[in-house]
Amino acid sequence: MKLEGKKALITGGNSGIGFATARLFIKEGAQVAITGRNQETLDAALAELGPKAIGFRGDVTDSKSRKAIFQQVGEKFGKLDIVFANAGIPGSTPAGSTKEELFEEIIRVNLASVFFTVQDALPFLNDGSSVILNGSVIGTLGQPGYSAYSASKAGVRALARTLAADLSPRNIRVNVVAPGATKTPIWARNSQRTAEESGEIAKKLASQIALGRWGEADEIAKAVLFLASDDSSYVQGAELFVDGGLTGTPLGGSLNRI
Ligand SMILES: NC(=O)c1ccc[n+]([C@@H]2O[C@H](COP(=O)([O-])OP(=O)(O)OC[C@H]3O[C@@H](n4cnc5c(N)ncnc54)[C@H](OP(=O)(O)O)[C@@H]3O)[C@@H](O)[C@H]2O)c1
Repeated sequence: MKLEGKKALITGGNSGIGFATARLFIKEGAQVAITGRNQETLDAALAELGPKAIGFRGDVTDSKSRKAIFQQVGEKFGKLDIVFANAGIPGSTPAGSTKEELFEEIIRVNLASVFFTVQDALPFLNDGSSVILNGSVIGTLGQPGYSAYSASKAGVRALARTLAADLSPRNIRVNVVAPGATKTPIWARNSQRTAEESGEIAKKLASQIALGRWGEADEIAKAVLFLASDDSSYVQGAELFVDGGLTGTPLGGSLNRI
């Protein structure tokens, strides 16, 4: 087991990639605290994760709520060894028709709150801990209509590099997992698309991916496990793409095969 005796906190652990990671961490011997805003999915996640998981309802953008959660996790777990700052939101912000509030909200959740989650975690982190931030291929690839999301995820990469420098004296490692298109509930959030339209988009996207398919949340979780465990003991300030080749070989999909 790769995380025997370790204690982890995962923001957004009640859904998608965060939940898959919580499940894998527990399988590998860790105790896991998960957070999320939706009490119903939080309860369902905790029921499935079993006695090695604890959960707290909270919003990552709310300073009081973040601090209260770390306080309670500290009381239950003592110090933490792993923080996965995973919570994030999608959002389309096309140039020409985007309201400032939405742009700012995406940056607040996906970037500012990631920094403050790590900052609030610091008094509760053991030296030698691992911090993993959830980025995205969109932080590297230009995609029409996604300025705020893409800036937030490019910001996450820059954040990881600077935090890695800040925290290296405590031997704390900070790295980014950057997923490509992954099957999670995020794709249905704030979406007015019909199931048919979503299916078409899914097919189109798959044709742009060298491996020809979407990723599973469990496949991202395995990369997070690598970054969380001693297997990555010399990996610092890195961004690990888990994207079926979307960034490494952007012309590698079936769309471009002649
Ligand atoms: N799926 C993909 O294709 C993909 C690709 C690249 C990157 N990512 C990144 O992966 C991360 C996880 O996304 P996912 O795909 O697993 O989507 P998801 O299933 O929608 O999960 C998002 C999680 O973030 C939580 N969250 C959002 N805003 C929050 C807030 N203000 N406070 C607390 N929790 C909040 C949600 O909790 P509630 O449900 O309780 O609100 C949920 O647990 C995100 O950072 C996303 O940008 C996903």
